[in-house]
Amino acid sequence: MKAWVIGNWKQNPAASQDVDTLLESLLTAIDDGAKASTELSNSHCNLMVAPSCIHLAAVSTRLKGTPILCAAQNISAHSASTGAYTGDCSAQQVADTGAMWTLLGHSERRQYHQESNECLLQKMTHALAQELGVVLCIGETQTQYDANQTLEVIDGQLSVIKDLLVQQPDIAASLSDRLIIAYEPVWAIGTGKVPTVTEVSKTHQHIKQTVAGFADSLNEMTVLYGGSVNADNADSFAADSMINGALVGGASLKAESFLAIANAF
Ligand code: G3P
Repeated sequence: MKAWVIGNWKQNPAASQDVDTLLESLLTAIDDGAKASTELSNSHCNLMVAPSCIHLAAVSTRLKGTPILCAAQNISAHSASTGAYTGDCSAQQVADTGAMWTLLGHSERRQYHQESNECLLQKMTHALAQELGVVLCIGETQTQYDANQTLEVIDGQLSVIKDLLVQQPDIAASLSDRLIIAYEPVWAIGTGKVPTVTEVSKTHQHIKQTVAGFADSLNEMTVLYGGSVNADNADSFAADSMINGALVGGASLKAESFLAIANAF
């Protein structure tokens, strides 16, 4: 299974010229890697970046034909054909930019936009209908972690996949190619704190077993870890077979740290 290393840029860079600079530094480093035939040139892992929606079309256009895939950070729970939703970006608009994936259910959206499983089911349905792949973000808060509720919380968040399969049973056959799960303990995001590799490995094993129970075709789910991943700790996560890659925030905003994480996987 090829690893995935995804950069979630959130609201960064603020200026479009800095977006260009980041992109060019990533592409130059990869190109130099190819010339130097370093590991990264062997495309041993899938690289993806998720820019802000305002930069999505430009980034997706620039990345066409390069080893880096492009994703949205979110899509609307509605399509334009069902009404007017000012400020939203529909799955159709994201697909039109050439981006082929979208993050969904990031903890910051669950927190600040009260995204429920019902809302995420609508978003996943629209994304998959537009042939977008989905990176479904799950994870517990500090309070839930401290109360030993991690697996209970994750099971509740994963149930949106079961609901999707009930709604569209035929999608099960192709879903494993179009769905990635990112486990991001909320208390590790942006804090520099990380769970032990053993904790992450056990949680990922639980996630894989739970999803495999939804459909036989989902018995090899890709599960990424996110939350303060950096060039120094990436090797330790990459060494565990239950950890299939990383969803990276802050460290994805510098080409050298993002690619160092990619090289670790
Ligand atoms: O989606 C990835 C992000 O939430 C992780 O952020 O800065 O802890 O790598 P960071």
